[in-house]
Amino acid sequence: MDSYRTPDTRIIHPSILYFGTPVVLITTRNPDGSTNITPMSSAWALADRVVIGLTGGGQGLANLQRERECVLNLAAEDQQEAVERLAPTTGCDPVPAWKRAVGYRHEADKFAVAGLHTAPSSTVNAPRIAECPLQLEARLLLAVQRPLDAWRDGAGGYVMAELEVLHVHAHDDVVVPGTQHIDPRRYQPLFYLFRHYVGRGHALGKTFKAEV
Ligand SMILES: Cc1cc2nc3c(=O)[nH]c(=O)nc-3n(C[C@H](O)[C@H](O)[C@H](O)COP(=O)(O)O)c2cc1C
Repeated sequence: MDSYRTPDTRIIHPSILYFGTPVVLITTRNPDGSTNITPMSSAWALADRVVIGLTGGGQGLANLQRERECVLNLAAEDQQEAVERLAPTTGCDPVPAWKRAVGYRHEADKFAVAGLHTAPSSTVNAPRIAECPLQLEARLLLAVQRPLDAWRDGAGGYVMAELEVLHVHAHDDVVVPGTQHIDPRRYQPLFYLFRHYVGRGHALGKTFKAEV
């Protein structure tokens, strides 16, 4: 007979549910032609589509809705410090009151703050971030505005955005030579886990559909 004992559980009310998704640095073009970087992690992919969630009132979201394109730059494990330098900043000027209250400041040159560099994109106006191992040029297909009653700091809603990936740029060292495949043994993404940064840990195995 199976002697498995059901673990004890309790109902909790966590303030956030960031259960561990990759850190993405979204580059978008500002109205003056400069580039904004929005660190985010509420993102998932299916085929050539990526769906992202952005809270209302951000500069990256305004740029994305105006220009209908962006680059999704996937951060690497060793870029945690650069990401955290961007964390308390916004491209918005003035800074929205709720963000100012929790310590955000305006930053016009986020590349300088983070110590990152631009690389020109192939099809979108916003540049890529040269240091990121994967850079996905994308265009906006759909943006759905939603209320967010549970959000406590007053951001006022969020947008679910569906993006179509147009081009994938990959650092040579994360591509399996002679193929179109990312090498999961060498690609080391940075994850956001309940507001902590973590790496991917050691490999555990692969699915029956893995190509490499
Ligand atoms: C690691 C990390 C993950 C984040 N994830 C998200 C997210 O998924 N969605 C979101 O709206 N904001 C997210 N943020 C907060 C935004 O980066 C923040 O609102 C920032 O001010 C946006 O910049 P912008 O106004 O210049 O676009 C995240 C921040 C960090 C540091």
